[in-house]
Amino acid sequence: MASKVSCLYILTVVCWASALWYLSVTRPTSYSSHRVGDVTIVQKNVTFGNIRTRPINPHSFEFVINEPEKCGKDGPFLVILISTTHKEFDARQAIRETWGNESNFKGIKIVTLFLLGKNSDPVLNQMVEQESQIFHDIVVEDFIDSYHNLTLKTLMGMRWVATFCSKAKYIMKTDSDIFVNMDNLIYKLLKPTTKPRRRYFTGYVINGGPIRDVRSKWYMPRDLYPESNYPPFCSGTGYIFSADVAELIYKTSLHTRLLHLEDVYVGLCLRKLGIHPFQNSGFNHWKMAYSLCRYRRVITVHQIGPEEMHRIWNDMSSKKHLRC
Ligand SMILES: *[C@@H]1O[C@H](CO)[C@@H](O)[C@H](O)[C@H]1NC(C)=O
Ligand SMILES: *[C@@H]1O[C@H](CO)[C@@H](O)[C@H](O)[C@H]1NC(C)=O
Ligand SMILES: *[C@@H]1O[C@H](CO)[C@@H](O)[C@H](O)[C@H]1NC(C)=O
Repeated sequence: MASKVSCLYILTVVCWASALWYLSVTRPTSYSSHRVGDVTIVQKNVTFGNIRTRPINPHSFEFVINEPEKCGKDGPFLVILISTTHKEFDARQAIRETWGNESNFKGIKIVTLFLLGKNSDPVLNQMVEQESQIFHDIVVEDFIDSYHNLTLKTLMGMRWVATFCSKAKYIMKTDSDIFVNMDNLIYKLLKPTTKPRRRYFTGYVINGGPIRDVRSKWYMPRDLYPESNYPPFCSGTGYIFSADVAELIYKTSLHTRLLHLEDVYVGLCLRKLGIHPFQNSGFNHWKMAYSLCRYRRVITVHQIGPEEMHRIWNDMSSKKHLRC
């Protein structure tokens, strides 16, 4: 009886593997350059090496602007990935000159990168190209840059880290209208003198469900996401994770149907990975009026324009000696 069962079992495995193999040899050649990594199946001493499954979400884009050397040999302590759009020249410059300046911390290597897709306006692409030649802090892939493609932008960032910066300790993903209190982020949260965490993910955790109102910015069609709840996810305005998570999310995304809500999508990948995002009250999802003492306690504040960014930064920098 037992041998019958195991015989059947082996047969099933063989059938299944043949089917996979068949799929992998008959798939269109356009996918051939996007292999995910080899899937090895070891069961009952039956091994099928090098079986490639076809991704349902192959991230089949090319870098058109890249900074492959930016991380250096040892890898930075923190990589900041900032989702931005072409026209936000001022916002990018404000971040470079304030909290995003890579030389703000002596002895702690920080890499700041702005993420973009391709614009339909060639002039804007050219301007970004020139900006990139000056600052070397822009990465672009050739997907069409649009609100609905924000998830691709984030995945490009994850891919960049996994490919060109796997030795980094921590990654932050944020937007161009966010003020980041880097002192708190680095010294209070991440603590450079402690052992780097793994499978770590934190931010402003949202436990919610899909909005079915078509007028909403966060509208989610039922056929795209039928479940009534999202897994816990961190608001896309700012989340932090250990660098190992970048590759895990990127690889998981290749087998996870794309959703246009970037933060929800990352939450789905985290659920598949069994990684639970931590709530941290320092991340502010909404705008918060400036006051020195209040901003000293936060990690992120949303909806800060370029001029305000400078004002806040200058005020906080010039009052470091003041107590609250
Ligand atoms: C499977 O392989 C292991 C190690 O190679 C061996 O010890 C074991 O006897 C094998 N089992 C069967 C059912 O062949
Ligand atoms: C960043 O800070 C360094 C050192 O304080 C400074 O020399 C540099 O000009 C700053 N970069 C920008 C873009 O403001
Ligand atoms: C997203 O990018 C892809 C690849 O460039 C493109 O085909 C698609 O139209 C874009 N989607 C939107 C909504 O812009």
